[in-house]
Amino acid sequence: MYTTEIIDLKKERKKGIDKAAVLLREGNVVAFPTETVYGLGADALNIEAVKKIFLAKGRPADNPLIVHISDVNDVYKIAFMTDAAKKIMDAFWPGPITVVLKAKDIISDTVTAGLDTVAVRMPENEYARELISKSGVLIAAPSANLSGKPSPTTAAHVQKDLSGRIPLILDGGECDVGLESTVVDVSLNKCIILRPGGITMEMLKAVLGDVTLNDGVLSVKEIEGTPKSPGMKYKHYSPKAEVFIVEGINEDIISSKVIKNAAQDKKNGKVPAILCTDNRAKGYRDFAVISLGQNSEDIAKRLFCALREADDMGADTVYFEAISEKGIGLAVMNRALKSAAFKKI
Ligand code: TXA
Ligand code: MG
Repeated sequence: MYTTEIIDLKKERKKGIDKAAVLLREGNVVAFPTETVYGLGADALNIEAVKKIFLAKGRPADNPLIVHISDVNDVYKIAFMTDAAKKIMDAFWPGPITVVLKAKDIISDTVTAGLDTVAVRMPENEYARELISKSGVLIAAPSANLSGKPSPTTAAHVQKDLSGRIPLILDGGECDVGLESTVVDVSLNKCIILRPGGITMEMLKAVLGDVTLNDGVLSVKEIEGTPKSPGMKYKHYSPKAEVFIVEGINEDIISSKVIKNAAQDKKNGKVPAILCTDNRAKGYRDFAVISLGQNSEDIAKRLFCALREADDMGADTVYFEAISEKGIGLAVMNRALKSAAFKKI
């Protein structure tokens, strides 16, 4: 058990970064802001420190971590470069994209979950980069939520999940992107998107030409040993409420499906919540609406926070209006579908 300290970087930047740097060097974990979501960091080359991340989050040991760097040359210390990776790094680093490359021996199986590859990212957030460079360590960091919960986009979200489980949270305000980084496997010099994010498929295609999307991004991927209830294995970003993705060929059809289902829930004594843009909220006056803003960037930024708000208001069901998969919409739909265990109506 820890007494979790929270330091506001806008007020006490030097104190916060210095304290976090010492904790990291001494083999402890620290939560810190990035432009995507908050991370829970530890010295990537210290196995005992990395194990504390898995313990604090309740994360399964078979899910590998991303190594965060502040100097582009550090990639060469831990991974074998490819041309495709170089192009992506030149175009988008620092920024919200992670490259998966063949790992060098210096990286332990605890970080890679026994894979022969390692995920590397150089964040853009100035606090994150200052923390990495001041601490002098490479920082292994997953999102700073309890395993299975929506990723945290504010320090308050981290506090809610990890208070008492970690010594320090650095508060750098709300995250800009709001969804985790794009993860691309470029280890074989081809680019496969494993997880869509702030750097979009269109942006990657403009730089690389050929880009493939992993099957699991928009549908439940059939893999060997898939459990009978795939939801158990694939449900992530989950609030307590049951989430449904509402699709339709036009907005009227979506509205009527949402209203029909939410009204039925109310009749059954359940509390439904509707996640939609401000513009669409007008159609749902009889129900609790959680606003996602105006456009797909806003939706990306607010989605995880909205799922947490649904819990706070005691919602039993959540209806999320499907959006176009163009641009960052692909990442939004990927996270929304996962939070719904791929249930669509
Ligand atoms: O934006 C982000 O990426 C945030 C911030 C903190 O940087 N981090 C983050 O970490 O989202 P996490 O652990 O929540 O997600 C990492 C993802 C997981 O889906 C993991 O399976 C994948 O990256 N990953 C990590 N190493 C991998 C590898 N060697 N091969 C394939 N996938 C890998
Ligand atoms: Mg995560």
